[in-house]
Amino acid sequence: MAFVVCDPCIKCKYTECVSVCPVDCFREGKNMLVIDPDECIDCGVCVEECPVRAIYCDEEVPEKWQEYIEINQKYSKLWPVIRDSQDPLPTADSFSETENKRSHFDPEPGLGSRDSLEDEEE
Ligand code: SF4
Ligand code: F3S
Repeated sequence: MAFVVCDPCIKCKYTECVSVCPVDCFREGKNMLVIDPDECIDCGVCVEECPVRAIYCDEEVPEKWQEYIEINQKYSKLWPVIRDSQDPLPTADSFSETENKRSHFDPEPGLGSRDSLEDEEE
């Protein structure tokens, strides 16, 4: 079991989920975050933090968003760690109520946390 970031995160990326995660399992893409299922300890505290309710337990991911389970698995191995909350995307409020944003998904990595970049440079 693990928690999964789904469609509502795309083009919003509020990142309020990040600051409560005890094990740093969020990874940053250009316009959404994902959770590393191998790191998530299923505490569930991130769920209530997300203002657009993007996070679900994998057993409760709505049928229409099932593919996000695989997206989280795949991109958590490709994108950098994000450890601290940051400003939402400029598009966040205008896309917060948009349904089914899959076509806007950007596979490019985000910047990740400064400290994780420094780790990589060492
Ligand atoms: Fe992190 Fe807990 Fe959310 Fe998993 S369920 S991503 S461990 S806060
Ligand atoms: Fe995304 Fe919600 Fe976190 S919009 S970045 S899952 S707070």
